[in-house]
Amino acid sequence: ATQKRGFQKEAALELALRPLEADYDVIIVDCPPSLGIAMDAALYYGRRRRGEAAGRSGVVIPVLAEDSSATAYGMLAQQIEDLCEDLSLEIDYLGLVVNLYDSRRGYVATSSLENWKSLGDPKVLAVIGDLKEQREAVRKRMPLLSYAPQSDQAEAMRQVARGATR
Ligand SMILES: Nc1ncnc2c1ncn2[C@@H]1O[C@H](COP(=O)(O)OP(=O)(O)OP(=O)(O)O)[C@@H](O)[C@H]1O
Ligand SMILES: [Mg+2]
Repeated sequence: ATQKRGFQKEAALELALRPLEADYDVIIVDCPPSLGIAMDAALYYGRRRRGEAAGRSGVVIPVLAEDSSATAYGMLAQQIEDLCEDLSLEIDYLGLVVNLYDSRRGYVATSSLENWKSLGDPKVLAVIGDLKEQREAVRKRMPLLSYAPQSDQAEAMRQVARGATR
């Protein structure tokens, strides 16, 4: 019923990207760290399209091994659930990326990582430490995969890409 109401603000990003889609194999939308309309538009864009197999489109969620990140994840999951219900969508979780992981931060870090892993769905695509190459690449204004193609960080990015596009 919602579809028949005409233009939906959540569809704005899709309208903008539609002319480009045929030129790309994969489109990644980097979202702002807030749960507003930009996030909804990105989530809407990442929904499972009609006739599309499960897990081909969806969301990859970077998280930290910290309690505040678990709280933020719960808010995002609720927003995804609400959007799916309101607009009759299916949005697949492609996986989590645990970033800036450091077991030396102790029990909160190690138990948080276990909690992320124990979710099972979404699965943890990669656990990435605090690595220097990305910062260096930014300083040199180069893509990570050109600056340090064999680094652990580049390998982690490949692991995320493989896991999210299977
Ligand atoms: N695993 C990592 N190791 C080292 N540095 C990192 C790592 N992850 C991110 N950074 C650095 O932290 C900074 C912020 O990263 P990034 O812009 O990806 O964060 P963000 O959460 O997307 O921020 P925003 O909320 O502003 O979008 C960048 O300088 C980036 O290089
Ligand atoms: Mg960002």
